Amino acid sequence: MATHVRIKDVGQHDGQTITVKGWLYNRTDKGKLKFLQVRDGSGIIQSVMFKKEVSEEIWNAADKLTQESAVEVTGSIRADSRAPGGYEMGISDLNVVHYAQDNYPIQPKEHGVAFLMENRHLWIRSPRQAAILKIRATIIKSIRDWLDNNGFTLVDNPILTPAAVEGTSTLFEVDYFGEPAYLSQSGQLYNEANIFALGPVYCFGPTFRAEKSKTRRHLTEFWMVEPEIPFCDLEQLLEIEEQFVSYIVQQVLAKHRDELVTLLERDVSALEKVASPFPRISYEEAATKIRELYEAEQDPEKKQLLYLEEGDDFGSPHETELTKLYDRPVFVYHYPAAVKAFYMETVDGNEKYCRSVDLLAPEGYGEIIGGGQRATSVDLLLQRIEEHHLPRESYEWYLDLRRYGSVPHSGFGLGVERTVAWVCGLPHVRETGAFPRMLEKMYP
Ligand code: 4AD
Ligand code: MG
Repeated sequence: MATHVRIKDVGQHDGQTITVKGWLYNRTDKGKLKFLQVRDGSGIIQSVMFKKEVSEEIWNAADKLTQESAVEVTGSIRADSRAPGGYEMGISDLNVVHYAQDNYPIQPKEHGVAFLMENRHLWIRSPRQAAILKIRATIIKSIRDWLDNNGFTLVDNPILTPAAVEGTSTLFEVDYFGEPAYLSQSGQLYNEANIFALGPVYCFGPTFRAEKSKTRRHLTEFWMVEPEIPFCDLEQLLEIEEQFVSYIVQQVLAKHRDELVTLLERDVSALEKVASPFPRISYEEAATKIRELYEAEQDPEKKQLLYLEEGDDFGSPHETELTKLYDRPVFVYHYPAAVKAFYMETVDGNEKYCRSVDLLAPEGYGEIIGGGQRATSVDLLLQRIEEHHLPRESYEWYLDLRRYGSVPHSGFGLGVERTVAWVCGLPHVRETGAFPRMLEKMYP
């Protein structure tokens, strides 16, 4: 064995003999030549074995190699513009770490999604799935980098919680020594306490919603980053959000352009347009546009999906059609208070609306961020807690934040999986994480 090099770095070893360690992706035999494609999680390299350049033992070992066998391949690296990745290896030695069984379930043919999801533990090895997971990692790193570099402090909020943040209908209850506790739907309320200690903060971790609907946007466990900022109103919040989201998209373009184009067939020109400022429309303006789309729709089935009652929250079909009208993410602000959470500040002079804002991703993707300015009046919060049938005792501590040094403050939550789906151009959130949790999906 020679020096072990990850495949992404073989270009730094042109002309040298090195070892790559990975799994056999594909093998082609051509008489006295064998082409072994090896992947190691960082890339794929084509390695070539000449019968006359290796021992008979090695040649025979290569003959038996099955897809996904684990191998250590040693040889010299040479630039070859025809090879995927631009480099090829001339094999001088091969060590088979494990011969994979000859019945690897995922073959280079079209499989149904249900089958692939049952075999998610193997499916993630495919280059397309691995690329999505890498882009997810870059998105998460960009999120942290932007916030860390812009004065935010990371705080870890609890996952076991005593009360709801985003409504009681999607709570996962767990038995906490005989008392009910709930898996966190959002770390927001704790963040509203943290800002008084630290200034701008963010929490970032898994959140849980018992979503009983099967849609292409809903998971029961998803990752959310939640920044919260003191002395910040709704208008200032929008500026933070658009810079934050633009940065994330730019980072993915800078680091993953090749994978986006070749493996994900993403239209990168659509992502290149993602720059500040994003358009801003009110809920009522958006509702008007949706009603126009409804009127114009000829297909009766689609038309029915676009129907919108006065004051209704937007559903996925509304957001899908609305965002097709834009070439970059669009802010929709001032929703009716009745369709948003209890903690929203009201709009001056019109109590019916609240100072909420959702950010909807273009190309039909829809909501990736929910947030807004938080109510500061104890009386308003008490009224909302009652209207939402929430137990007041659970929120006493939260009301204290309005009693001791209360300031206008705002924040938002960005869902990682929906962001990954949009940036990668995926039709469904199920491919945005290694092992997604959805209604009826707990295995593997
Ligand atoms: O709009 P949501 O419910 O807002 C909150 O939870 C606020 N407490 C956040 C805050 O202001 N700190 O959720 C925020 C985002 C959504 O825009 C969406 O991207 C994602 O979280 N999200 C989900 N993603 C996947 N599956 C689900 N079931 C999701 N529910 C929300
Ligand atoms: Mg929301």
